[in-house]
Amino acid sequence: MKKSHKDKIVVVGAGNVGEAIAYTLMVRVQANDIVLVDVNEDRAKGAALDIAHGTSFFKQVWVRQGGYEECADAQMIIITAGIARKPGQTRLDLAKTNVSIVKSITENIMKYAKNPLILVVSNPADITTMAVQQVSGLPAERVIGSGTSLDTARFRYILSEKLHVNIEDINAYILGEHGDSQVPIYSSANVGGFPLEEYAGQVGAQLDKKAIAERTKNGGAEVIKLKGATFYGIAMAVSNIVETIMKDDNALLPVAHVLDESFGEWAGVAISLPCRLGWEGIVQTHRIPMDENEKKLMDHSAELLKEFAKQALA
Ligand code: NAD
Ligand code: LAC
Repeated sequence: MKKSHKDKIVVVGAGNVGEAIAYTLMVRVQANDIVLVDVNEDRAKGAALDIAHGTSFFKQVWVRQGGYEECADAQMIIITAGIARKPGQTRLDLAKTNVSIVKSITENIMKYAKNPLILVVSNPADITTMAVQQVSGLPAERVIGSGTSLDTARFRYILSEKLHVNIEDINAYILGEHGDSQVPIYSSANVGGFPLEEYAGQVGAQLDKKAIAERTKNGGAEVIKLKGATFYGIAMAVSNIVETIMKDDNALLPVAHVLDESFGEWAGVAISLPCRLGWEGIVQTHRIPMDENEKKLMDHSAELLKEFAKQALA
């Protein structure tokens, strides 16, 4: 099949998440060549064909199955491969399995790509981000974890619902781990520039902050219980990250990468903070103001991830 080399994105893992990402990238025309790589080649071929059949309703985008050699000239590589937790399997067992999968994928990518920009989605996302960075030896700014981008989207969705306001007016982050120790940053949250509480007061809305944080944290589990897996939300979160990178538009997004020594206790851990993203990956990592409690919760999240990483990456 003919292919173009202009804007190529490789998605490794063509399951629910990889397929939904490829579909979203195609519909939003974020690349003109989208390549799906999977150990299950038929799955990747089928997913690519299904999406490609619909391209006549959009713009010219090639969507196809391929191998790791496709990474050589890709602008971005997105890793979504992994297995779902099996009955009786512990969180650590699953982490070890997925870490070993992403490690072998990274080795394959590095055989062909010189200085790739990699976006890691496979769970546990912060730990796999650390594994990819370690194995690739790439600068931390070029190995981005989708981190709490999806959790932040869930948080904003719930807040917009409670406040009956356009979701685009909500500025509020979930930071820390993409997991149970995630931290809602309420102290700087605002709606169109109004402090959150002030806005809620003006529209007569009652905000149960604890319940909202809990519902946000359990958002993935809620969907999995209802339909077996989450994939559209993460696909749109990934597409948003891809957009800001491909357009070099310097948007601030809550994503994860391995933090450097300037982050003190958090150094060496991949956790989400608001990062300015551009063509080269993470351009700047921002230290958003936090109150004492939020800071404590972030310390706790980083500590838990550090401990878990010691076991999962061993
Ligand atoms: P899935 O089982 O539908 O698909 C996984 C795919 O990975 C399969 O097609 C499988 O063949 C492939 N795969 C397995 N080992 C591979 C290897 N070594 N090389 C290449 N491909 C390989 O799972 P899914 O629903 O698509 O979820 C994928 C991952 O994304 C899971 O780890 C899931 O937990 C994670 N996820 C993360 C977020 C997030 O916010 N970070 C959100 C949703 C899902
Ligand atoms: C999520 C996945 C399961 O939807 O990590 O949050």
